[in-house]
Amino acid sequence: MVKIERKVFKRPWGFDAFFGEMFKSFSRVYVAEVEGKIAGYIVLWILPPEGYIANVAVSPDYQGKGVGKALLKKAISVCEEEGVNSICLEVRRSNQTAISLYKKFGFEVVGIRKAMYHDGEDGLVMEKLL
Ligand SMILES: CC(C)(COP(=O)(O)OP(=O)(O)OC[C@H]1O[C@@H](n2cnc3c(N)ncnc32)[C@H](O)[C@@H]1OP(=O)(O)O)[C@@H](O)C(=O)NCCC(=O)NCCS
Repeated sequence: MVKIERKVFKRPWGFDAFFGEMFKSFSRVYVAEVEGKIAGYIVLWILPPEGYIANVAVSPDYQGKGVGKALLKKAISVCEEEGVNSICLEVRRSNQTAISLYKKFGFEVVGIRKAMYHDGEDGLVMEKLL
């Protein structure tokens, strides 16, 4: 997961960040495996009444093959099972691939966080009501 982080993000989570998730009672981490290799993962926080997607990424080797969709589908079904009534996340304004994926699953832009990223880019807050 750390290897994938380094390939896809400017400020990747390190080992400690993933390890720390194991000690948060509200955190759920799901990994997508393809041919025995980690192709992607999603980090979901269950904070009733809300779910929050803290991280999601797919290895460049496996992008565009439906892994992101499968991860999002899993996160949404867990949120439904756990009885939360909305899911939110933040995404870079320029990340059209991710924005298009989220829209496909019914997420809508509900806010803008000005210059939330270290390089000054705005973050879009997206939410899906369940
Ligand atoms: C965003 C990301 C998770 C999508 O995962 P993926 O496995 O590549 O996505 P999928 O193959 O499941 O495609 C799902 C949808 O994403 C969009 N998408 C995928 N590749 C795309 C591309 N190259 N250009 C535009 N949209 C694209 C499409 O809407 C696609 O739906 P479609 O197949 O019906 O057209 C992945 O690209 C990634 O890890 N990016 C880098 C990390 C990142 O940006 N994470 C999100 C941070 S908020």
